[in-house]
Amino acid sequence: MEINPALLQKLNQPVPRYTSYPTVPFWKENLDIPRWKSSFRERFAECNASEGISLYLHLPFCESLCIYCGCNKKITTNHKVEEEYLQAILSEWKTYLELMDTPPVIRELHIGGGTPTFFSPDNLDRLISGILSGSVVHPEHAFSIEGHPNNTTREHLATLHRLGFRRISYGVQDLNKEVQQAIRRIQPFDNLRRATGEARELGFAAVNFDLIYGLPLQTLDRLQHTILGSISLRPDRLAFYSYAHTPWMNCSQRLINELDLPSATQKMELYEQGKRWLTENGYSNIGMDHFALPTDELYTAWQSNTLHRNFMGYTTQATGLMLGLGVSAISDTGLAFAQNDKTLEGYYRAVSVGGLAVTRGYFLTAEDLVFRRHILDIACKGSTIFDRAWSATLEEWTLPLLRELESDGLLVLREDGLTLSGTGRTLLRHVCKAFDLHLLRDERARGNASIRCGKSALAGAPPSPNPPSSSGPQFSNAI
Ligand SMILES: C[S@@+](CC[C@H](N)C(=O)[O-])C[C@H]1O[C@@H](n2cnc3c(N)ncnc32)[C@H](O)[C@@H]1O
Repeated sequence: MEINPALLQKLNQPVPRYTSYPTVPFWKENLDIPRWKSSFRERFAECNASEGISLYLHLPFCESLCIYCGCNKKITTNHKVEEEYLQAILSEWKTYLELMDTPPVIRELHIGGGTPTFFSPDNLDRLISGILSGSVVHPEHAFSIEGHPNNTTREHLATLHRLGFRRISYGVQDLNKEVQQAIRRIQPFDNLRRATGEARELGFAAVNFDLIYGLPLQTLDRLQHTILGSISLRPDRLAFYSYAHTPWMNCSQRLINELDLPSATQKMELYEQGKRWLTENGYSNIGMDHFALPTDELYTAWQSNTLHRNFMGYTTQATGLMLGLGVSAISDTGLAFAQNDKTLEGYYRAVSVGGLAVTRGYFLTAEDLVFRRHILDIACKGSTIFDRAWSATLEEWTLPLLRELESDGLLVLREDGLTLSGTGRTLLRHVCKAFDLHLLRDERARGNASIRCGKSALAGAPPSPNPPSSSGPQFSNAI
């Protein structure tokens, strides 16, 4: 599928990844904490017994700085920080336990970063056991963690496996020395091979890799080397992310020489060619930026239209309540979002006095709930049916854009809804954007000058990534 260069040029602007709606830039500072607590309590009472709850733990430390990285991280080689941090998370958890009237049933647990494997196996054990003691583990639980291939040891994997973890995601990004030097992340292939092999030997059911296209000095040949090298280890699932170059939000990206970045057209070629190599080798494209083997549950969920999307990107199980613990972590009750303080100092200050560290968030309106459903439908199913009760709003904001996107070949519009075309699946965030009333109103108010992820709106706000809850870039260029 060739995408016309003029269309690419037109659509080459930062667009949210829609791991939440409304997206983080539209949340409010100074969250009303009593209202957040009651939203949490209510949702917990509804979800816990019937389906269980999801937890996300954000462990921000990394030993060295990867300059492309858009996640909330703290660089240090001092491992003494582990103790204070794990005590802080356990204290935050204790405060939430006081809002629960029955022991929590943990269905999903994801640990992201930063580099969670910065923590020693013993400290990970103390942290996870501290959370699980006093909780009930759901019989169909799914526990997963992000690991760095350079520092994930056999002991880490054995400890995690004993605690119930069966999925691990390794950050690979690119396998070429030239690109690794340009992004300052040197990672020998042997480390990836060892970490993958050991995870399998110890009984992990699934290994994911994260790759990025659009990095400095990436060429088609180098991408081919990365993809073929990665799939020689047969990961069950690959995230193939578009490099989000947002130096106004992530200072370290200013160290990247922009002349080394591929152009919009080259970036799209990298994506299209990468997709071809992946699909020729048995990986199916799932929604935006994910590929999976037919044996992976993400593939089955995509096939059966049961895919979900949250801060971690696509997931197969979604409970009605996601609680994020740790610096910058995001929680989602379905009706409200809250994000913890993004600085370690602020986070420690709040939890040390037995408080919650939530600082900003958002309570969804009836309109948000309807437009969020459209965005999730498009991202997870590739189609949506219009809610006619909102015809006037759709006519004012969304339909004019959808008509234009239809003439650009991204979708087929019907009286009652839309279905994405092949091109639309590649560029689906643009279709989601037509339902993003917050962004559209903001753009209109600013005379279409810039979208809200511009310098002033988000200065100093690192995207939290899959990419994670609080891990993962919120914005990336359209392609
Ligand atoms: C929180 S990071 C965890 C990676 C893991 N700690 C490691 O270093 O191996 C999760 C993923 O976000 C993706 N990511 C980080 N910064 C990005 C950016 N600027 N653009 C696109 N993807 C990015 C990377 O693929 C990364 O593996």
